[in-house]
Amino acid sequence: MTHFDKPAVFARAAAILRDNDRGAYTIPTKGLYPFQWNWDSCLTALGLRHFDEARAWLEIETLMAHQWPDGMVPHIVFHVPDDGYFPGPDVWRTGRPVPTSGITQPPVLGFVLHRLFEEASDRALAEEKARALLPKADAWHRWFYTMRDPAGEGLVAIIHPWESGRDNAVDWDGALTAVPSDGVVPYVRRDIGHVNAGQRPHKAEYDRYIKLVQIFRDLAWDNARLHDASPFRVVDPGFNAILIRSDEDLADLAATLGEPAIEAAARKRLALSRAALERLWSESHSQYVAFDRVAGRPVDSASVGGLLPVLAGVEASRMQALARRIRAWTEVARFGVPSHDPSDPRFEPKRYWRGPIWLIVNYLLADGLRRAGFEEDAILVDANSLALISEGGFAEYYDPLSGEGLGGGAFTWTAAMVAELITIARDDS
Ligand code: GLC
Repeated sequence: MTHFDKPAVFARAAAILRDNDRGAYTIPTKGLYPFQWNWDSCLTALGLRHFDEARAWLEIETLMAHQWPDGMVPHIVFHVPDDGYFPGPDVWRTGRPVPTSGITQPPVLGFVLHRLFEEASDRALAEEKARALLPKADAWHRWFYTMRDPAGEGLVAIIHPWESGRDNAVDWDGALTAVPSDGVVPYVRRDIGHVNAGQRPHKAEYDRYIKLVQIFRDLAWDNARLHDASPFRVVDPGFNAILIRSDEDLADLAATLGEPAIEAAARKRLALSRAALERLWSESHSQYVAFDRVAGRPVDSASVGGLLPVLAGVEASRMQALARRIRAWTEVARFGVPSHDPSDPRFEPKRYWRGPIWLIVNYLLADGLRRAGFEEDAILVDANSLALISEGGFAEYYDPLSGEGLGGGAFTWTAAMVAELITIARDDS
């Protein structure tokens, strides 16, 4: 690794967080993503706390102030108009007082709340904030099991690739073929005005992303209808693993705060889902894979989504297999952990979620590894994340073979993860 000047890197992370701070929320990066994003904000709060704990809580409070009456937490809150991003509020037309998108994102909230609370220095503030946010997080989780698991299987489906947070992963290719691309109202993409098109999704995918928005809009964003009506319904192991972990963390937080009803409900969901996750295990890939609920079959795609169950408290033999996969991928892709199996011909080292490394995913993987006792593996993932900062700056994502920084620059959640990692490394030493 090139020389790593910790204080300078920490200061740079702080400057990025400050620069992308809009007072009560942060934007992911200027230009490309000028609004508040759901899982970006939650993970960013973990970084903000190193500078200002009250500001970290505020980040989450702002997001949760825009929770829908049915419990959903939208993936984007359009606080102020900005035509640098497509699709904007005029396309979504969700009818919310402050415009929001109409789909959701990976529920890292429970995980983040638990961490913010456990590690807070200002205990009184943490108690007050966590107590107020806990029922809202619980309502979001109940929403998932009502609206996205109508058959009570214990696994929830995403109805749009953007909900996964891994927008153009190989995992969705097959399922997207069931989404018609006719009747898409002509549009101009803004993303490729900011970033090289070779690092972004293809037009064929984008048409279908927009078509899905149109289908849901025609159903008036009525979540009771969207799941069954959507031509895209996929069970993502990564998404479900995050939900399971967040349920566990919510249950623990509820126990600490003396909220037995919330705790009991979360533990019940957790037990059902952890068992159900096993249905996504693939012997041939030796990892978890997605399930296409429309086609009724597993998806033949070994992506990092299928490694995220390291977070979910899966049994020891599964953990060993997943840790082996992470090691094997990192041997091929020096800067690991890539977002897709680098030995698969569909791996593309520069295209968004089809190969590049994302520091937030590394962070979640390292957390799961560490918690399950795979400390050395976790240290390696963390060290590689910091090495990427030296190689590629505070990028949105990185080429796993060369370490080159790709996509948007001066990226908020990347900076937040660095603030976390430097602090973790400091504690270790
Ligand atoms: C992209 C990413 C998504 C993220 C958003 C804002 O859509 O795929 O995970 O939340 O950008 O950074």
